[in-house]
Amino acid sequence: MDTEKLQYIAKLLVAPGKGILAADESFSTIEKRFVLCDIENTEENRRAYREMLFTTPAIEEYISGVILFEETLYQTLRGAQGKQTEGVLFPEFLTGRRILPGIKVDQGLDGFGEKEKITKGIGTLQERLIDYAKAGAKFTKWRAVFTIENNVLPTDECILENAKLLAEYALFCQEAGLVPVVEPEILMEGSHTIDKCKEVSEKVFKIVFGELKVKEIYFPGMILKPSMVLAGKDCLNQPSSKEVAEKTLEVLKNCVPTEVAGIVFLSGGQSDEDATKNLNEIVKLAKENNEALWPITFSYGRDLQDSPMKIWAGKEENILSAKNEFYKKAKENSMASKGEYLGE
Ligand code: 13P
Repeated sequence: MDTEKLQYIAKLLVAPGKGILAADESFSTIEKRFVLCDIENTEENRRAYREMLFTTPAIEEYISGVILFEETLYQTLRGAQGKQTEGVLFPEFLTGRRILPGIKVDQGLDGFGEKEKITKGIGTLQERLIDYAKAGAKFTKWRAVFTIENNVLPTDECILENAKLLAEYALFCQEAGLVPVVEPEILMEGSHTIDKCKEVSEKVFKIVFGELKVKEIYFPGMILKPSMVLAGKDCLNQPSSKEVAEKTLEVLKNCVPTEVAGIVFLSGGQSDEDATKNLNEIVKLAKENNEALWPITFSYGRDLQDSPMKIWAGKEENILSAKNEFYKKAKENSMASKGEYLGE
């Protein structure tokens, strides 16, 4: 295993003031997002949309890496940037801008028991990783999801099965020279309190790290992509950003070895203002308490993309304003990753 290379890539991904753009929506997820903006879900629209994001001037100041969906890994620019870039593959284009191309390598979710989910794709993973690395990917992502329901979910079986898969995934990636971004997401759906989310997050993250240790994952060459500790969307008692920060940091301190290269949060359906504000509070508090044990930043999908996608709406005449909005969102989250975000 090339530990030096893994550590080098992981460090670049969490470089100060930078974070990751998650643009790895599957066909069905991008459909859900496009429908809201009246955009038809065709291959060309997916390509044109992502070209709009990736060609935004100067985003390399704030974006260290982009997680791509498999389709995008093999798509090319169509020359909106001028003749020199026409036909250039996205990973090559991003690399040229000093943005690391990554790829989502799980294949979505299957049912687990009546109400839970297990992540698919481990059987073919090793073969696929060879192709992804050849196509220029430098890092990968695998997402497991956990639902909170009363005192019943998540079940111990679901936590353990998903944790084992996350660890197996991380090992295959490190063996293939790719940095794993290990993503255990506690879903926001439901009416649970923040304290319930804290209890579940702590249990899940501890079991995940237990399995990562069993597989002897090289932590300086691995990134954790967790959800924040939040109350369920339907909980009447919504916490302040300060409470989110305190509880999130406490869980991370209790579960995440300091050798882990970095922590990059997902936004997970929070409003974009909340996701940015909460990240800012977490970083600020970690710095104040001397508890910034790892670099902490963002790996956002919806937070970074919702407003630029709405502005773009599939129309060429909106490209410039959409890019300006994307740049603004990236900048705000970069500020938040330093604890310096002052609001819109
Ligand atoms: P969100 O920020 O929209 O949650 O997306 C991040 C991600 O990669 C989810 O898998």
